[in-house]
Amino acid sequence: MTTLCDRPALRRSWHPVARTADLGGPLAVTLLGDDLVLWRDSAGTVVAAPDRCTHRQAPLSAGTVERGCLTCPYHGWVFGEDGHCVKVPSAAEGVPIPPKAHLHTVSVQERYGLVWVALEQPDRDLPHMPWDDDPSFRRINTPVEVWRTSVTRMTDNFCDMTHFPFVHTGTFGKGQDPHVPKFDLEPLPNGFHGFTFEVMAYNESAGTSASGQTDERVHRVMTTGFSLPFTVRSTIAYDTGLEHILLLLGTPIDDVNSYFTFVVWRNDDFSTPADEAIAMDLAIGAEDKVMLERVKGVLPLDQTSLASVQADKCSVEWRRQLAAMIA
Ligand code: FES
Ligand code: FE
Repeated sequence: MTTLCDRPALRRSWHPVARTADLGGPLAVTLLGDDLVLWRDSAGTVVAAPDRCTHRQAPLSAGTVERGCLTCPYHGWVFGEDGHCVKVPSAAEGVPIPPKAHLHTVSVQERYGLVWVALEQPDRDLPHMPWDDDPSFRRINTPVEVWRTSVTRMTDNFCDMTHFPFVHTGTFGKGQDPHVPKFDLEPLPNGFHGFTFEVMAYNESAGTSASGQTDERVHRVMTTGFSLPFTVRSTIAYDTGLEHILLLLGTPIDDVNSYFTFVVWRNDDFSTPADEAIAMDLAIGAEDKVMLERVKGVLPLDQTSLASVQADKCSVEWRRQLAAMIA
C-alpha cells in the first residue's frame, strides 16, 4: 500500500494548513503525521514548530501566546521568534538556556489568505495566482475542514468531471449530460496542467449568486488543471464576462485524513456578499465530501490497478506525475 507521510518529496512541498484569519493564539495542526503548533511572533511572523515542548514534550498548542511569545502550559518555558526558548522560569537569573531547549521550526509562509508549511527545505514555490494582485478581483477564503479521506482521493476527484451528474445532483450537475467529449491535456497558464471544456451548468438558488444570472442553465467555459502535489485550479468564465477562479486545496493530515479548503477570486462588482458568492462552491464541496468519505484508503498510484477511460485523462496524468514525484 502506498503511504504518504514519509515521502521526502511531500515533506519538501508547501501545504496549506490554516487560514491566516484563524491564527490568534497557538493553533494545533497536523501535516503528514507531524503535529505542529503555529503562532505569530512579536513581529507578526508566523512560527511553525513541533507541537511538543523540548522540556517534557507537553503540547505547546495548549499553551498561551502573549506579545508574540508562546508559553508552555506545563512548566512555563517561553518560546519567541524562530522558536527560540527565551525563558526558563525555574532557572536562576543569568543561567544560560541550554541549546536543546530551542524549537526546531519548519518553513512557513502566508499567501492567498492561507498559512503554508513545508516540513523540510521546500524545493518548489507555490503556484502563482495573478488574480490575487488584480484589483478587479476579490479573494474569498473558506474555513479549513477536515475530511476523512485521503488527499489522493481528493485531488483525483478535483481533476475529474465525470462525477458531476452523479454526485452534484443538488447543485450544478443536475441533469447534466454525462458524456464527456474528447479533450486534450495541455499546459495551462501559471504552471498548471489540464484541459479546457465547456458546460451548460444547472443554475438554481445558490448557483444564481455564483453565476450572476437567473437562467435555468448557464454556459461556462472552464479550465481544470493540477499543480503537484495536491493543488487543483478550476477557472470558470461566464458569457457575461464574470470570472470565478477556484483553488481547490487538499492537505495530507496523514494517509487517510485531509484538510480541505478553497480560495475563490471573482471579478464581480463585489455587491454579492462573500458567503452568498461561494455558497454553491461550499455545497459542491459538501457533496464531494460525502462521496469521498465512503472510499477507503489511499488511491493506488500505479497505472495498472484501476480501470480508467479517456475522460479520466487528467486525473490519470496527475497520478502518473505524483507517483514519479514521490517515488
Ligand atoms: Fe514544556 Fe516543561 S514540558 S515547560
Ligand atoms: Fe466534485
